[in-house]
Amino acid sequence: MYRNIFDTHAHYDDRRFDEDRAELLSSLFGGSVSGIINCGCDLKSSLETVALTEKYPNLYGAVGVHPHEAEETTQEDLEKIKELYKKEKIVAVGEIGLDYFYDFSPREKQIEIFRRQLVTANELNLPVIIHDRDAHEDTLTILKELKPKGVVHCFSGSAEMAREILKLGLYIGIGGAVTFKNARKPVEVVEMLPLDRLLLETDAPYMTPVPFRGKRCDSSHIAYTAEKIAEIKGMDVQELIDKCAENAKALFGI
Ligand code: NI
Repeated sequence: MYRNIFDTHAHYDDRRFDEDRAELLSSLFGGSVSGIINCGCDLKSSLETVALTEKYPNLYGAVGVHPHEAEETTQEDLEKIKELYKKEKIVAVGEIGLDYFYDFSPREKQIEIFRRQLVTANELNLPVIIHDRDAHEDTLTILKELKPKGVVHCFSGSAEMAREILKLGLYIGIGGAVTFKNARKPVEVVEMLPLDRLLLETDAPYMTPVPFRGKRCDSSHIAYTAEKIAEIKGMDVQELIDKCAENAKALFGI
């Protein structure tokens, strides 16, 4: 069994964990997992994230508004979320970004909420966790302008875009998608990615790696993602897991 898995992106507040959340988190922390960052998507899940951080010593939180929720978000919500950054175990602004695949919120509203949260992150000197789906060009333009520190999670861009992201000093989060059969772009990105800018993540309960696709994902599944990345990089799996845990702690100040 591997040890020291640090999952930089999960959603344990998700209702798919309602049945066995406590049992599962205890078994993860008693086993291969040494750290988790739970990401909020709106005010409600951000408050749930804070509650989880208070319960589990090795669980940290990111709070913020996901692009899907941008339209429903009020000024009051943003102010309440801003208060949560005072909590010691809230280590990032996230997840925030743009999603032009689903377009659940109008794009202008997504951009407005994304920018406002980037400004907050810079003000508070906090890293950001960025969601970019089919919005590479706008994401890159905004990141170049506001220059936050942080990670582009579940990176789905090309190797060329990865180079731009690296130039901005950002990290790249790689999850289960790299194990998928048709994963050409994520494999190319892993090939060119320097080890000191790589973060491991799940996006649990989603993005379950092969061989568990279709099942609920949890942080222990990072083992399969790490095996694939280590194979591409030609290195030892535990060594990769340790290096990525070190990267996560450096970025999030843990
Ligand atoms: Ni997510």
